[in-house]
Amino acid sequence: MKAHFLRPLYLLLEFLLIQTHLCSFSTSSQMLVLPLKTQAIPFGSFSRLPNKLPFHHNVTLTVSLSVGTPPQNVTMVLDTGSELSWLHCNKTQISQPVFVPNNSSSYLPINCSSPICTTRTRDLSLPASCDSNNLCHAVLSYADASSSEGNLASDTFNIGGSEVPGTIFGCMDSGFSSDSDEDAKTTGLMGMNRGLLSFVSQMGCPKFSYCISSYNLSGLLLLGDSNFTWLAPLNYTPLIQISTPLPYFDRVAYTVQLDGIKVSEKLLPLPKSIFEPDHTGAGQTMVDSGTQFTFLLGPAYTVLRNEFLNQTTGILRVLEDPNFVFQGSMDLCYRVPLGQTTLPQLPTVSLVFRGAEMTVSGDRLLYRVSGEIRGNDSVYCFTFGNSDLLGIEAYVIGHYHQQNVWMEFDLEKSRIGLAQVRCDLAGQRFGVYH
Ligand SMILES: *[C@@H]1O[C@H](CO)[C@@H](O)[C@H](O)[C@H]1NC(C)=O
Ligand SMILES: *[C@@H]1O[C@H](CO)[C@@H](O)[C@H](O)[C@H]1NC(C)=O
Ligand SMILES: *[C@@H]1O[C@H](CO)[C@@H](O)[C@H](O)[C@H]1NC(C)=O
Ligand SMILES: *[C@@H]1O[C@H](CO)[C@@H](O)[C@H](O)[C@H]1NC(C)=O
Ligand SMILES: *[C@@H]1O[C@H](CO)[C@@H](O)[C@H](O)[C@H]1NC(C)=O
Ligand SMILES: *[C@@H]1O[C@H](CO)[C@@H](O)[C@H](O)[C@H]1NC(C)=O
Ligand SMILES: *[C@@H]1O[C@H](CO)[C@@H](O)[C@H](O)[C@H]1NC(C)=O
Ligand SMILES: *[C@@H]1O[C@H](CO)[C@@H](O)[C@H](O)[C@H]1NC(C)=O
Ligand SMILES: *[C@@H]1O[C@H](CO)[C@@H](O)[C@H](O)[C@H]1NC(C)=O
Ligand SMILES: *[C@@H]1O[C@H](CO)[C@@H](O)[C@H](O)[C@H]1NC(C)=O
Repeated sequence: MKAHFLRPLYLLLEFLLIQTHLCSFSTSSQMLVLPLKTQAIPFGSFSRLPNKLPFHHNVTLTVSLSVGTPPQNVTMVLDTGSELSWLHCNKTQISQPVFVPNNSSSYLPINCSSPICTTRTRDLSLPASCDSNNLCHAVLSYADASSSEGNLASDTFNIGGSEVPGTIFGCMDSGFSSDSDEDAKTTGLMGMNRGLLSFVSQMGCPKFSYCISSYNLSGLLLLGDSNFTWLAPLNYTPLIQISTPLPYFDRVAYTVQLDGIKVSEKLLPLPKSIFEPDHTGAGQTMVDSGTQFTFLLGPAYTVLRNEFLNQTTGILRVLEDPNFVFQGSMDLCYRVPLGQTTLPQLPTVSLVFRGAEMTVSGDRLLYRVSGEIRGNDSVYCFTFGNSDLLGIEAYVIGHYHQQNVWMEFDLEKSRIGLAQVRCDLAGQRFGVYH
């Protein structure tokens, strides 16, 4: 009873606090299109990537914008798997890309007593606390047990020519080692999940979409509503919600229902229950732009691995090295002659979601492991990994498999739409390439 009584008050407060929504007045033709870049980050150089995984994957999707008054250019990793947007802050100007809060006249740290700190942080995976200056303190933790910390703050974000004052983010200033991220080109991360404080929630966007070209790995991010019947019709799969919190279930993730996996046209003999979260919440399927490859729970992974291996017999030569496991989770690898420029015709892998299917084919099935040479061969690994080997309790669909797929995140209708398209053409059509 009490909770029901209080709820409208929170909503009112939230409404009063957030005056400017980038997307709130968007009609079907209003949208903002931004270029999206794929950025390779030298291995081990930037330990503060959206690391839900205990290794430092190094290819991320980034978006460029400016923050503060006068504006400072920043590059943020687009991450549908996390909530809080953050910038690497430093009070003094250093050579790495950082945000210098004292150079911005519109920068405001958030007080502990502010409702932003007390109620709008409720979806964060770690609760906000109060520091000795009575400012709202945020902590981000990573799978490798490291963390970074800072203050919750607000400033003006200028995105695609639109100014959004009062955008809330974490101004993270501790937990970075000053020498290791020298080469990184990203200043921070744009949290795009369904939590109250995420960038899309703050902007009031009913939808957003992205499309990554496999041709040169550039792409586009579209905030707001779009119509692109000229591209391809989208197939929709509903987002899964659970009513009661469960320890392993991320309720603000983009969770979809996987119904099956096919190799070529063969549906793997997997019971549907294998794709359903158990009583602890383990086993959800998340669409995560902040993760590079795709990871499946052990039992499903093993069946997929064996079938792919079976269907590639005679096409590819298996790397006979039981000690070689790429990124700690991908143990199906092959030897491909160094001089060979194209891969042979491979069986496709389709992830069958309720209502939509995502087919992975060609180059996106294998990843060349740089620096690994055996005789005259290079090493390529199958781009699906085993979640169990990483200690993660979920199926995670990474951005490598979202290339040339139009991905629409429809928050209003609680669904994800997808269609296979040529993202380079989509980018040209939307005018993101000049
Ligand atoms: C689609 O959007 C464009 C502008 O982005 C508009 O000119 C066009 O009329 C729209 N088409 C439909 C069918 O809504
Ligand atoms: C990370 O990037 C470096 C340099 O761009 C590359 O040599 C390395 O193979 C990449 N690692 C992975 C796992 O992609
Ligand atoms: C910020 O980016 C804009 C547009 O890309 C560019 O014109 C400007 O010079 C950049 N400013 C700084 C300080 O790098
Ligand atoms: C920012 O403020 C800190 C102290 O609050 C000061 O040490 C530093 O020099 C300032 N940086 C700039 C660029 O003004
Ligand atoms: C911050 O201000 C200092 C002093 O005015 C200036 O030298 C520096 O370039 C500024 N840095 C940024 C990122 O705007
Ligand atoms: C934060 O709290 C201090 C007192 O603790 C107050 O002086 C200040 O105005 C508050 N700032 C905001 C933005 O509410
Ligand atoms: C901020 O810059 C100073 C001076 O370059 C550096 O010593 C410090 O480690 C930096 N702090 C963070 C959090 O990056
Ligand atoms: C592949 O699977 C089929 C059917 O299960 C089986 O008959 C065949 O021997 C397998 N081939 C290899 C190379 O394992
Ligand atoms: C690699 O290729 C060269 C030239 O084609 C050949 O002489 C050499 O024996 C090969 N090495 C191995 C390990 O197969
Ligand atoms: C990617 O390809 C598009 C379309 O061909 C082109 O216009 C764009 O400049 C390319 N981007 C990069 C970063 O090479």
